[in-house]
Amino acid sequence: MLPRVLESVTDLTLEQIQELMSLARHIKRKGPTQFATTQLDFTAALIFDENSTRTKFSFVKSLQYLRFHTIDLIPDQSSMQKGETLEETLYTLKAQGVNLAIIRRSIPGELHHFKLAPPVALINGGDGMHQHPTQALLDLLTMMENGENPKGKTVAIIGDSRHSRVTHSLLQLFEMWDTKVILCGPQSSLPRSYSSGHISWCFDVAEAIEKADILYLLRMQNERHANFQQANFFADYAALFQINEERLKGRNRPVYHPGPSNISVEISKEVLKGPLYRGYSQVEHAIYLRMALLWSYYLDHKRGER
Ligand code: NCD
Repeated sequence: MLPRVLESVTDLTLEQIQELMSLARHIKRKGPTQFATTQLDFTAALIFDENSTRTKFSFVKSLQYLRFHTIDLIPDQSSMQKGETLEETLYTLKAQGVNLAIIRRSIPGELHHFKLAPPVALINGGDGMHQHPTQALLDLLTMMENGENPKGKTVAIIGDSRHSRVTHSLLQLFEMWDTKVILCGPQSSLPRSYSSGHISWCFDVAEAIEKADILYLLRMQNERHANFQQANFFADYAALFQINEERLKGRNRPVYHPGPSNISVEISKEVLKGPLYRGYSQVEHAIYLRMALLWSYYLDHKRGER
C-alpha cells in the first residue's frame, strides 16, 4: 500500500520505489496508450495554485492515458479564492466523488497536517521550497532508462539548491539510492547545513564537473528570493557556473534539468539543444512515472473497496 499522503520521497520505502520504477518501465515498453482500455471509476482532482507546465500537464496526460475521471480545480476560480481552506475544499471534492488530489501550493509542509486523517489520497506536486517527490522519482527513472543509473555514482546538483524543492527531494532519494551528491553554486544558493554524509559542497564548477558522473542543473528560484536583483546576478552566475560547451569539453557528462531553464544563465542554448541534454527525456519519462504512481493509487483504492 502506498502512503495515503505522498508528501516526500521518504514516505515511500525503497521497495515501493523499485516497484514504481518497474511499473513505469513496463508502461513505457507497452506504450502509455495501450495500458488502460476502459474508462475507470476513479476520480482525480488537480489543485495547482502555482504556475506549472511540465508537472501539471504530465499529470493531465497520465490521467487521460489511465482513463480516470479528472477535475481541474483552479484555485483562483474556485471557492478557495473566497477564503475556503484546503481542508474544506478536499472534503467538498470528496463528497463530489473525488478519490485522489494532486496538489501544488506555495505553503511548505501543508500536506503534513493531513497525514493523520486524509480526506482523500494526496500527492504533493510541489510545496513551496519544501518537496517535489514525483520530480525526483521521474528523474531517477529517466537516468535509469538512459543507461545512467546513479547507484554508486556521483551527481553534481548545480544552482539554487537552497530554494529548490527538487533538490530537497533528490537528496532524500539519492540517499536511499546510494548516490553521492555534490552541491555546487554560489554560497548564497547552497543549503546552510546538511547532516548526511552523502552530500558535499563545491564552489568551483569545473571541479564539480570533473568529480561528477551526472550534472543536474537548477533554475535560479527568483520568486523565492527576497529582493532579487536579476540583471547582475544572472550575468555573474553565468560567468561562474553556466554549463556550456566550453566547460563540457573533454568531459561528456549527461545534463539533467527539471525545467524551466533560464537559457544563457545556468545552461547555454547549445548544450540545451545538444546530445548531452536530458531535459526532454525527463519530460517524456514523467508520464510513465506518474502513470505508474496513479495506477498504484487506483489499485490501493480497489483493494480498499473489497
Ligand atoms: C520545478 C518546480 O516547479 O519545482 N519544475 C518542475 O516541476 N518541473 C523547478 C523550477 O521551477 O525551477
